[in-house]
Order: sequence, then structure tokens, then C-alpha cells
Amino acid sequence: MNSTVVAAAEILDDALTGEWTRGDQVDPNSLRKTAGSFPSGVTIITTTSGGNPIGLTISSFASVSLDPPLLLACVARTASSLPAFRVGGRMGVNVLANDQAWLAKRFASRQEDRFAGVELQPGSHDVPLLEGVAAWLNCHIARIYDGGDHVILLARVHTVHRSGARPLLYHSGKMHDWAIAALETTT
Ligand SMILES: Cc1cc2nc3c(=O)[nH]c(=O)nc-3n(C[C@H](O)[C@H](O)[C@H](O)COP(=O)(O)O)c2cc1C
Repeated sequence: MNSTVVAAAEILDDALTGEWTRGDQVDPNSLRKTAGSFPSGVTIITTTSGGNPIGLTISSFASVSLDPPLLLACVARTASSLPAFRVGGRMGVNVLANDQAWLAKRFASRQEDRFAGVELQPGSHDVPLLEGVAAWLNCHIARIYDGGDHVILLARVHTVHRSGARPLLYHSGKMHDWAIAALETTT
């Protein structure tokens, strides 16, 4: 391991064990609002428990690695569906389309049966994949890491699909439709 990597790991340990909490702490509300100025898409992560579909709305999704293919999602420890997401278990990441804000709201609500009337991709019952999404990624959970009041699910990706639908955008606590106006391409 090179010295840069070792140093980064030490800093992370200090931060988690409280070494860095002696100074001023950032106000959680300011942190939430400031971090929320970074725009993202909106996903519904899914799995099954006892044969029942489980899902919740998540914006803290990121691609991590191409080889091996890894992604992450951060889930609040208070999320009632968290126990269904286990190491070795399946996970679907459904990237919502611009006309699916209602699904994002439903899968963040206290509604009993979130999947009522929701169309699934045929044959996706082991891991529910939603119809009409901009994209989906079919994964299994490789690791679960401590992330303070959240946990970090690190998942290995097996199959992926893009529909071409325009994705839903999340920014500063609001969902938006957006007209794609690419300023520059990176590929
Ligand atoms: C647009 C949006 C993004 C969200 N992102 C996250 C997230 O990244 N992580 C998280 O734990 N909760 C997130 N939530 C909140 C959860 O969806 C919500 O707390 C949900 O009720 C949890 O469901 P559960 O308690 O049934 O597991 C988000 C909600 C919305 C509407």
C-alpha cells in the first residue's frame, strides 16, 4: 500500500472514532442543505424478504468501480426496510424517469403496500425491477459498511439496462424534470 492510501485510511479512522469531534461540529441542517446543493438522480432500491418485495427511495447512489463492477447506496439506520438488505442478498437499483416522482414519494412514505399497482419487469421477482424506469442495475450486496447514522451498501453489479427515458433529478430537497442541455461531453 502506498503512503497516500495509508494516510487517508488513518484520517478516516480518526474521524469515525471521534478524534475530530473535539472542535466545532458542522450544524446537521446546514450540512444537509449544503450537501443537497449537489444534484443527483433518484433511485428506488429493492430486494425481497420472505417472498415479499421491499423498496425505498434513495438518492445517495453512486457508481464506485468498473472492475470489479461496484456501486454504493447509503441507507439510514432508522429505515424500517434496512434489515431486508443483507450481505449476499440481491438488490435492484431502479433509476427513476422524469414522470416517476410519484413513485419516489410513495417509496419514501408510510404507505403499507408500496408496490400496489406498480408494474414490474417480467421475471424480476427475485429482485423487483420497475417498469418505465430510466435504467436499472441488478446486483448483490457484497459488503455493508458503517456510515455513522447511515450504512453504506456496497453492491456488485451483474446486469444493467438503460431505457433512454429522461431521468428524474433531485436538488436542494426538490425533484425536478429537466431538459437535457449537454454543455460538454466527457466520452
Ligand atoms: C428524493 C428522496 C431521496 C431520498 N434519499 C434517501 C437516501 O439516500 N437514503 C435514505 O436512507 N433515505 C432516503 N430518503 C428517505 C427514505 O426514502 C424514507 O425515509 C423511507 O421512508 C424509508 O423507508 P423505510 O423506513 O420503509 O425503509 C429519500 C427520500 C426522497 C423522497
